[in-house]
Amino acid sequence: MKKHVLSLIVLLMPLSVLAAPPQQPKAEGIESPNYVWNADKGEKKEILKLKGNAERGKEAYQGCQGCHKPTGAGIPDGTYPQLAGQHASVLIKQMADTREGRRDNPKMFPFAGKHVVTPQEIADIAVYLQNMKIPRDNGKGPGNALALGKDLYSKDCLTCHGDNGEGNAGKFYPVLAGQHFKYLAREIRDIRDGRRRNANPKMVKVVKDYTGAEAEAVADYMSRLLMPERAAEK
Ligand code: HEC
Ligand code: HEC
Repeated sequence: MKKHVLSLIVLLMPLSVLAAPPQQPKAEGIESPNYVWNADKGEKKEILKLKGNAERGKEAYQGCQGCHKPTGAGIPDGTYPQLAGQHASVLIKQMADTREGRRDNPKMFPFAGKHVVTPQEIADIAVYLQNMKIPRDNGKGPGNALALGKDLYSKDCLTCHGDNGEGNAGKFYPVLAGQHFKYLAREIRDIRDGRRRNANPKMVKVVKDYTGAEAEAVADYMSRLLMPERAAEK
């Protein structure tokens, strides 16, 4: 192509194509002395007041399924978490935390920030995903330390995350049943080490002395939990 033709094309390109994608903002997280977990303010509070619509959510979710997949299942290797059957409240909190910069996720931000997804769309996607069944073929661990995993879970995690990994919608405790082993193990380490900046400080206390092997054992046990009312048929 001739040089002047090329420069003409560049001139005609809309400005938005040339602009760099917006950077994820950074808000105070667990590293800050002022941090309050799940503070009742910001975008989360605003979105929780909206009524979600699953039909519209299906449309809006199209921008997410490249990574989280049409089934909501993500990828068994844990790169992308499983979202189907997650509590709407938890989905909304995690999205608001990412959009406002309390949970770092530079990979996802370009597809999920306020510049591309509206608060109403977040509310819609949250009901759409919550209504989906949790697949049973999630990534599981090696299965070599399940007794240890069960012990740790019963002692340290069950009071918040529940017998079946069902969490607590009202308290914003996530569903862990059906989640991929590698994602679970990564999050436990990130929460332990302060990298997941929107973590719950009471949970941090519980996992702060966990070894890598203990984190993996409990993640393996959790990856096999089943929440009967939301699990997919076999
Ligand atoms: C480019 C890939 C990508 C796209 C597109 C994407 N995500 Fe994500 N998402 C991720 C990754 C990676 C994580 C996990 C980050 C981590 O390890 O902490 C994640 C995490 C999440 C979580 C937190 C899950 C949990 O259990 O805490 C939610 C909720 C979520 N995404 C929703 C969405 C929605 C809704 C959209 C579309 C508007 C979307 N994502 C688009 C990559 C993506
Ligand atoms: C005091 C209640 C509490 C206890 C005890 C607790 N957790 Fe959590 N956990 C939470 C909350 C709340 C979150 C979500 C934090 C947020 O808002 O991002 C969470 C998040 C997680 C996540 C990330 C889930 C996701 O979808 O990203 C994992 C994995 C997890 N917990 C595992 C554990 C394990 C393993 C234990 C026991 C060793 C444990 N938790 C103990 C409250 C608790």
